[in-house]
Amino acid sequence: MIKVNNPNFNPKIFASDILEESIKCAQLNANTHNFDNTLNFIISDLFKSFPKYLKQLFDIVIFNPPYLPSLQKFTESNNKTRSDVSWDGGPKGIEVIMRFLCEVKDFVKKDAYIYFISSSKSDLTQLNEYIKKLGFKNEILAKKHIFFEDIILNKLEIEAT
Ligand SMILES: C[S@@+](CC[C@H](N)C(=O)[O-])C[C@H]1O[C@@H](n2cnc3c(N)ncnc32)[C@H](O)[C@@H]1O
Repeated sequence: MIKVNNPNFNPKIFASDILEESIKCAQLNANTHNFDNTLNFIISDLFKSFPKYLKQLFDIVIFNPPYLPSLQKFTESNNKTRSDVSWDGGPKGIEVIMRFLCEVKDFVKKDAYIYFISSSKSDLTQLNEYIKKLGFKNEILAKKHIFFEDIILNKLEIEAT
């Protein structure tokens, strides 16, 4: 992490994850880099546990979601482990992202930017249709082939009506 030495840069930053152990790890990192006074941590299934006063307040939201399709054995039974939530984005790899997109709209300002990662291994056609249906404009900022997939950095804005 880079600390910005600009006295006018005083952002309120919230970091969230569904797993308590991920939040503990992020807290340790923040502490190591002297960021622990700047960050607020929330254990939450997406925005479920976010306080209502944060609605319509965020300028920027960044989400590195679980973006790979579930393994067949997970779709047929329910034997996921806790750590599988870090990569398993649902049967088509987009279900967690779609839930996120639906919820994030309530927490951002009208001119906010939302950045998230997706994968060529997921159903991008359905995801892009859903993005349009929710009224977002999507710009692909970067794409990199790594191992077995293209990793895609997306930037969303709420389309002006
Ligand atoms: C690809 S990992 C990213 C980890 C880390 N935030 C980073 O960027 O390196 C996906 C993370 O999303 C979290 N996650 C999965 N489902 C979630 C949900 N419904 N709500 C909040 N976080 C979730 C996982 O626990 C995991 O830490």
